[in-house]
Amino acid sequence: MDILVLRLIHIVAGAFWVGAVFTNFIFIQPAAAAAGPAAAGFSYQLLHHRRFATALIGSGALTVLAGILLLLITSNGLDPAVLFAPSRLGYTVGGVLAILAFGIGSLYVFPRARIVERTLGAVLAETRPPTPEEQALLARTGAESRRAGWLVLIGIGLAVIAMATASLWSLVI
Ligand code: HEM
Repeated sequence: MDILVLRLIHIVAGAFWVGAVFTNFIFIQPAAAAAGPAAAGFSYQLLHHRRFATALIGSGALTVLAGILLLLITSNGLDPAVLFAPSRLGYTVGGVLAILAFGIGSLYVFPRARIVERTLGAVLAETRPPTPEEQALLARTGAESRRAGWLVLIGIGLAVIAMATASLWSLVI
């Protein structure tokens, strides 16, 4: 595949992924938590019908996959002399941080979003309030996702700064 196409896929998917993750954790989740039970229908629409969590995982996977291919191509197959050259270090560090953030998002946060989706689906289908067990489950998975979400935000934020620094560097040098 042409490297320009790979760059385009990487940048477009990366912009979508970063924007969606930040919007979710800074705006959507706090607003849903503040609205309480009134947000159940909205959260279910977002997760089940709009497949928001899947869109986050899909765009993250595309960004990481295209990034790994770019890293392999531009570093002559992971040559340490290129990976750790000052002009390329930002891509290497940013790539590792973004992969870690994607790992937390896909292996820890995503399964919890599926639990929330299933639980809300059952509650809404039976038009009843959640049982105490379901309430406790929603509260626990929500708190765990929020905590892990901060790690994802920090990882992605630092990755963007590292990528942008490397990109600006290549314009200046
Ligand atoms: C937070 C997610 C990411 C964002 C927002 C992002 C963003 C970007 C942007 C905007 C560029 C273009 C720089 C330019 O052409 O001047 C770029 C380049 C690059 N990215 Fe990422 N990236 C992300 C994750 C990753 C990952 C996970 C890897 C690899 C493991 C990676 C590896 C690379 C490489 C090697 C380049 C340089 C490509 C070249 O020189 O043609 N990136 N990235």
